[in-house]
Amino acid sequence: MTQALSFTHRFQPGSNAGAAPLLLLHGTGGDENDLLALGATLSPGAALLSPRGQVLEHGMPRFFRRLAEGVFDEDDVRRRALELGAFIGEAREHYGIGAPLAIGYSNGANIAAALLLLQPEALAGAVLFRAMVPLAQPPAAKLARTPVLILSGKTDPIVPASNSAKLCTQLIEAGADVTHTILPAGHQLSQADVVLARDWIAGLPQAKAA
Ligand code: MLT
Repeated sequence: MTQALSFTHRFQPGSNAGAAPLLLLHGTGGDENDLLALGATLSPGAALLSPRGQVLEHGMPRFFRRLAEGVFDEDDVRRRALELGAFIGEAREHYGIGAPLAIGYSNGANIAAALLLLQPEALAGAVLFRAMVPLAQPPAAKLARTPVLILSGKTDPIVPASNSAKLCTQLIEAGADVTHTILPAGHQLSQADVVLARDWIAGLPQAKAA
């Protein structure tokens, strides 16, 4: 665990200079350790940067406050997304890494989606597992064809299909290059999520150049 920067986090240096660093964003109740193994599976040799969400909900770390399940405190979303963006800047300088590809699950996917919409230059792209719309009225962002993979669960009890569809529309309107796949799964990750995300990352231009 490293605490020197503005977020408690883990950092694992990469061994493949051609692979984009991964920013690993855990779900509610997770921490900076949760997604390290997933990150290593999704992009072997990539540097891994894994912060812990700074909001506590009944002791469970999250990346922003919510008023109820699926009902977000959007002022807090905006503030926390910008704080995460500042942390990414600090970490890039401190560790000498490029703009990361976010790998977010659930609440972590939602803060990644907010960051894409609020600070388009912060991320090289994103894999969003079980993401929802983080901001009802996002600003007009300029995402310059930033690649985004959204993997939703057909029977997800937390994310209605209409909500993930709206997130796709928001990101496409902002200029992202969005791939949206709906899997026969619930809110939990499945093996199919891992395979699809790994193959999608391997197909990104930067990964091909490695
Ligand atoms: C959220 O609060 O970000 C979503 O409801 C997902 C969750 O963390 O359960």
